[in-house]
Amino acid sequence: PRPILLTRHGESRDNVRGRIGGDTVISEAGELYARKLANFVEKRLKNERTASIWTSTLQRTILTASPIVGFPKIQWRALDEINAGVCDGMTYEEIKKNMPEEYESRKKDKLRYRYPRGESYLDVIQRLEPVIIELERQRSPVVVISHQAVLRALYSYFADRPLKEIPHIEVPLHTIIEIQMGVTGVQEKRYKLMD
Ligand code: F6P
Repeated sequence: PRPILLTRHGESRDNVRGRIGGDTVISEAGELYARKLANFVEKRLKNERTASIWTSTLQRTILTASPIVGFPKIQWRALDEINAGVCDGMTYEEIKKNMPEEYESRKKDKLRYRYPRGESYLDVIQRLEPVIIELERQRSPVVVISHQAVLRALYSYFADRPLKEIPHIEVPLHTIIEIQMGVTGVQEKRYKLMD
């Protein structure tokens, strides 16, 4: 069996301000997580001959990967966070206040709701297909550093969770989800590196 490690980026400046989307850098807490993650990865993968680190093209995942040395890094646009379209950069409160109909439609059907000029969870699930195919093909461990909505979708694929649950699955910050794919099925472990 070979592990796939899934993690969100370290806390970003926008996470602190409650803003969705964007492309900010990580906070001090986020930087601390990046160092802890590098330590964890180094220990966890020390007996592996090869492994690779996959990030999105957004700064917060690239910065989170930066303390990890010794493994090739690959950036995937398909691992970028759900595109919130016209709501990019807003807080949920602002959306509720300024675009109440959008807010309500998303609440009603979070899986199918597509942000104006942005994406839905179903769109994200679809664009992840090439990433999943490549993950299945890999023989060595992969560390995937991505974002909340994307990781909900990826995790659900491996954990075999129903489509309708995907937008609601908990994928907290500063936590590694380890998936082991063996002959007897999929095993999961979670490591919370920070509060
Ligand atoms: O708040 C962090 C974040 O990654 C946003 O960039 C993104 O829009 C959101 O989470 C996705 O979560 P939800 O689908 O619950 O709004």
